[in-house]
Amino acid sequence: MGPNPSNRSVHQPALQLMAWQDAYRGRVVLISGASLGIGKELARQVWTSGGMVIATGRNAGRLEEATLHICGDTGDETRGRLLTIVGDVSSPDDCRIAVEAGLKHFGRIDYLIHNAAVFNFDRIDAASEQVIDQMIDVNVKGCIHLTRAALPALRNSRGGVLFVSSISAFYGMPEYGLYALSKAALTPLSESLRLENLDHGVFVGLTYLGYTANEPDKRALDSKGLPQPIPDRPRIFTRSREATARGILRQLIHRKSVSVPSFLGHINWVVSYLMPRLAFLIHKRSYRSLLLLLTYMLLGWGHSLDLKAQNRLVELTIQVDGLNITSASHLVIGLFDRASFPDGRPLHHTALKAEGSWMRWKFLVPAATYAVAVYQDLDRNGRLDKSAFGFPTEPYGFSRNYRPIFRGPMWKDAALVFDHDTALDIQLIVP
Ligand SMILES: NC(=O)c1ccc[n+]([C@@H]2O[C@H](COP(=O)([O-])OP(=O)(O)OC[C@H]3O[C@@H](n4cnc5c(N)ncnc54)[C@H](OP(=O)(O)O)[C@@H]3O)[C@@H](O)[C@H]2O)c1
Repeated sequence: MGPNPSNRSVHQPALQLMAWQDAYRGRVVLISGASLGIGKELARQVWTSGGMVIATGRNAGRLEEATLHICGDTGDETRGRLLTIVGDVSSPDDCRIAVEAGLKHFGRIDYLIHNAAVFNFDRIDAASEQVIDQMIDVNVKGCIHLTRAALPALRNSRGGVLFVSSISAFYGMPEYGLYALSKAALTPLSESLRLENLDHGVFVGLTYLGYTANEPDKRALDSKGLPQPIPDRPRIFTRSREATARGILRQLIHRKSVSVPSFLGHINWVVSYLMPRLAFLIHKRSYRSLLLLLTYMLLGWGHSLDLKAQNRLVELTIQVDGLNITSASHLVIGLFDRASFPDGRPLHHTALKAEGSWMRWKFLVPAATYAVAVYQDLDRNGRLDKSAFGFPTEPYGFSRNYRPIFRGPMWKDAALVFDHDTALDIQLIVP
């Protein structure tokens, strides 16, 4: 393959490399699916950093074309740092052959990047069995086969594995079911592998990529398994292949276990895991329900602010007037919430020896809504005495100075919001 002057600008920047990129110098990186798209760019950046690349793909012609992108117009000597191997990751034999060939050529393997994948955008009921098998065989089993083949070499080099997943793994969108499940499967796979290889010094990472610019040749499988062009995606959310590949290689060198490189990915993660109902409505495109849910959430947020306010303590000063001063008695003051008012156990209460025609008492309580009930326990028997018809026979009263006429007090009759220090006057009702 001859030199290509038009490609020169792409392959200039050896001098501009940053420190982490230098870490690839002399390292051997096996990249599955390196004949197109992100994989091809990964291979170029490793190669440009002075690393050695084992690039795989099923299509020999495409792999051959990719070498131009990866190595540019360099001579045979530097091209020796690139080994292309035609093979299918869904075949355990092909994976084994790729690893053996890489070891034979370079003598070691330091890193493995699981990049190869196939795509399918179709409803679950429309996809043929052949497509279902292919999605699992390539995207999931392919990673397993290649990992198993490369693991002994990676343990020898105490190197690293990185799985390329997708933000679609966070929530199964319509027509993304098979792709999403194949990418979601990489999460537990990478977690198990990470734990299993701690003692071997092998790093295992996973990246959830968002939209990355596709190559014109990229194809998705239709329901019959035939390759179809991929529709354009919103540019505003699309990263360049260069930036995506840089992020992956940096993650591998820095041994960062999990990364979600895009802004859209972060939003998707938060919504999918923390607000799955919202994710459902967004993907269902039910904008009316979405609006309702957002309103509820805002109200809930307001309510939680209210709850926060409840943790603030306020001083509640209660003055009770109209005490019967002729007898030695107790004044009982009770502070109730909605659940306990009026006959339950009060949240706070006190019994004071009655002295004079009025008395004052202070409660320090969390800011909230309360009702207050008081009575003068004339015979000091510890309860409000009532007649056979249920009417109090001792002086009593309520916040808001509610006076029962035909019925007992209800919450709304006596409840008050105490969100700051408050003084309350209650006039006793003498039966
Ligand atoms: N592009 C995005 O927006 C995006 C978003 C999230 C995640 N990702 C992930 O990023 C990775 C790369 O995506 P991409 O857009 O660069 O894809 P792409 O352009 O379609 O490239 C896929 C590469 O994988 C190879 N490949 C496919 N099946 C293979 C198999 N069975 N065995 C070996 N090689 C195989 C392809 O070559 P052959 O066809 O010649 O085999 C090609 O080199 C994938 O894992 C994908 O899920 C991409």
